[in-house]
Amino acid sequence: MANSIRYFVGNWKMFGVPSSYSIIEKFESHFRKDKKNNKKYKIIIAPPHTLLQDFSQKFKYKKISISAQNCHYKDNFGAHTGHISPYMISKLGVKYIILGHSENRASGDTDSIIKQKVELALKNNFVVIFCIGENKLEKRKNRTLNVLKKQLHNVLNKKLNEKNIIIAYEPVWSIGTGKLPTSAELAHSINYIKSNLSKIFKKRIPPVLYGGSVDSNSIYLFKNISVIDGFLIGGASKSPKNFIDIIKNFYK
Ligand code: 13P
Repeated sequence: MANSIRYFVGNWKMFGVPSSYSIIEKFESHFRKDKKNNKKYKIIIAPPHTLLQDFSQKFKYKKISISAQNCHYKDNFGAHTGHISPYMISKLGVKYIILGHSENRASGDTDSIIKQKVELALKNNFVVIFCIGENKLEKRKNRTLNVLKKQLHNVLNKKLNEKNIIIAYEPVWSIGTGKLPTSAELAHSINYIKSNLSKIFKKRIPPVLYGGSVDSNSIYLFKNISVIDGFLIGGASKSPKNFIDIIKNFYK
């Protein structure tokens, strides 16, 4: 069974300027009006680092939460030019952080680096949105489940606070491509992830989101897969209409 609250998380990646807060205001306004369903879901938006301070202040007393997209893996302060630590982000009032995204894995994040990031972020009281997923070649070689298992077990362990962890399953081949897993494949992978999580964390299983080409059409495919606890949305989270339509169509 899916956890009761569903998450709609927007990952803006390298997008946004200060005036883009008006996009999030539209999400907020939809959320407030959506009295019928708004107790069933939570919206989290991850703008780039440049906007975190401004947006986390603007949305401090609002319904939508702001997330960071990445951080450095060690130290609060240090000789790491161009990087920022979870400690520094936490001082902005930001509570969520995406870690292990495949785009960061592609530019050097190994499981061992991601593990350090997750531990440091949890120490700084973040809720971590930890991304995993197989690439095209791994899928073609039928290695999906092995890859997911390895990514989970290399980073998570029972000592971590599972209440502050959300998993995002993002098949790399589906990100930004319009290619989708079948319902059966997706349900199978999510169930497999959950069974691994229940081996790691005995008490409570973290929610598991799906990400990869989620839009207002593909959401119809996903809404019937009850084990999905929410969605990590890239491209479609940059437009008020597209993002709000995803939520509307999910609850239609
Ligand atoms: P798209 O929704 O653009 O496929 O991106 C998914 C993603 O990478 C979210 O983190």
